[in-house]
Amino acid sequence: MSTTVIVGAQWGDEGKGKIVDLLTPSADFVVRYQGGANAGHTIVVNGCKTVLHLLPSGILRENVTSVIGNGVVIDPEVCLSELELVKSKGYLKDSSRFVISAYAHVVMPYHKLIDKLREEGAGDNKIGTTIRGIGPCYEDKVARLGIRMCDLVDEKIFRERLLAVLPQKNLYIERVLDHKPFAFDEIFAPYLKSGRELKKYVSDSAKLLNNALESGKKILFEGAQGTALDVDHGTYPFVTSSTTVASGAASGSGVGPNAIRQVVGVAKAYTTRVGSGPFPTELNDETGELLRKKGVEFGATTGRPRRCGWLDLEVLKRSKMVNGLTGLALMKLDVLTGLKKIKVAVEYNNAGAPVYKEFDGWKEDISKIDSVEKLPNNAVKYLKFIESSLNLPVMILSLGPERGSSVMIKNPFSVK
Ligand code: IMP
Repeated sequence: MSTTVIVGAQWGDEGKGKIVDLLTPSADFVVRYQGGANAGHTIVVNGCKTVLHLLPSGILRENVTSVIGNGVVIDPEVCLSELELVKSKGYLKDSSRFVISAYAHVVMPYHKLIDKLREEGAGDNKIGTTIRGIGPCYEDKVARLGIRMCDLVDEKIFRERLLAVLPQKNLYIERVLDHKPFAFDEIFAPYLKSGRELKKYVSDSAKLLNNALESGKKILFEGAQGTALDVDHGTYPFVTSSTTVASGAASGSGVGPNAIRQVVGVAKAYTTRVGSGPFPTELNDETGELLRKKGVEFGATTGRPRRCGWLDLEVLKRSKMVNGLTGLALMKLDVLTGLKKIKVAVEYNNAGAPVYKEFDGWKEDISKIDSVEKLPNNAVKYLKFIESSLNLPVMILSLGPERGSSVMIKNPFSVK
């Protein structure tokens, strides 16, 4: 069985989209298994940037089938507009290469409104969500009040479900959030239309993927967000509402956990975070500002400036543990070029503050380098220190946004 899970090893925005895009030629299927349109996966092909929030990044390669698994929450409007976008750029010529799980839950207008109103009313306790309705949609899934894709594409069932659920949502919106309720028709007609347009993509994706595994096909699982945003293992309550760690690839797609072979953690050579919550190595100074500018650290989904700081090995060690990482993809090493000194948090002291090890920087342009041996000595020292501290190989090194600016040290699909 040849499968690889790509997970964010930090707080998201590590560059998973680029890694998935690089590995897609080695795969037959690319599967998203959690999250929704809160993700922001940026892929640059021939200088042309495509940002996808919901569709698997694999959709930009013709040789694969892209799957949205049951663990994802789907905003039909975003799904349709991204499909239109990729088709307008000449991708997805064959519609049968895109599949949506019948069991994936649908993000409804009331989820987005509830997300927004709660954040607006939270004052200092804001989570800093993307306001895409993700949390409220997963809440309804667990509360058994959700509407799934298989419900949406069947007019009779959709009507029955919405009639049953909407009064409960409206009661909460009116009484607790003090807002005007939704009229049934304001939701039903446009969603039914979207459902009709998406119907041809909806099927039993768990069966499809298990059949694929049986016939020796290769599957790449594309995680969204990051380990420190996982609802169980992240910096709760400042987390997203899904299982972002590698085990989510099994439950969120319907393959057994023993089908997972390689787990590659994607980590920047420094750390960023959007939204509220703990960030021990955050830099609120000019170095932080420099990383933000040079690394273009602004949210792909919300445009918010990302908080920036030094690499935190405690975060990565925990990430290795809870994901069962077998390798790393180290991103944006080029952003550190020009810094005199580079710090890495190696542990936290008794007061919980990071303890740093300091490295000398390098000045040479590394963005066009095609092998680790050609890196300046100080960059090699930095990379080797990360590998040895984590006891994990760096499998892929990324030195710029383009497909070409990366070094494939070991393709996880080639590991026996
Ligand atoms: P939600 O996923 O929109 O509910 O947001 C919950 C938390 O996860 C917030 O701190 C968001 O900023 C963060 N978050 C959600 N999606 C992403 C992402 O793709 N990258 C980085 N942070 C994210």
